[in-house]
Amino acid sequence: MDAMTLLHERSSMGKLTGPAPTPEQLDAIYRAALRAPDHKELRPWRFVEFSGEGLTRLGELFAEAEYREDPHAGDAVLDAARKKPLRAPMIIAVIAKVTPDVAKVPKIEQVISAGCAAHGILLAAHALGLGAMWRSGKYAFDTTVRKGLGLGDDDEVVAFVYLGQLGGRHKPVAAHDARTFVERWN
Ligand SMILES: Cc1cc2nc3c(=O)[nH]c(=O)nc-3n(C[C@H](O)[C@H](O)[C@H](O)COP(=O)(O)O)c2cc1C
Repeated sequence: MDAMTLLHERSSMGKLTGPAPTPEQLDAIYRAALRAPDHKELRPWRFVEFSGEGLTRLGELFAEAEYREDPHAGDAVLDAARKKPLRAPMIIAVIAKVTPDVAKVPKIEQVISAGCAAHGILLAAHALGLGAMWRSGKYAFDTTVRKGLGLGDDDEVVAFVYLGQLGGRHKPVAAHDARTFVERWN
């Protein structure tokens, strides 16, 4: 697949099956992520990879978050939280590891850089014929989850990228007219 086709046709896949990406595929994926633009070379990226028992542990963390939010939450709610990470054989949490008070590189730039890293993961996965889906959801912003993942006060969970084999067909890529979004000052 040539680069422009990849950029024009990348698409999310919510239906994911095993196996998880191979170590070689993951190496290629992370190398793509690490090409994110990075002002002052702060490397504001941290990736936490979940597979196997790790997905179960992440689900437990989500359930704990639900329980802390509402100690009266029923089993159905807690079970639903537990099952969320099991929708893929692998999840990569993309975390903006923010260095505070850097001259000319405010937090927002570092978070954007981590967002670009997440996009790099999606693009690389698509190029490799894998399926991927960027999810956040309320757990990305939850105090219990942040603590469980070891985030510093200034850090942010930017994405939970679900990864695996394609479990269905890609939906057709939405056709946008670029002119709708572009203003030109000539
Ligand atoms: C920051 C961010 C968070 C997202 N979180 C979710 C999410 O929690 N659940 C979801 O279904 N889609 C989420 N999405 C959207 C999907 O990843 C995807 O982009 C969307 O379904 C459109 O599909 P496409 O990427 O094939 O165009 C999120 C996207 C971004 C950029």
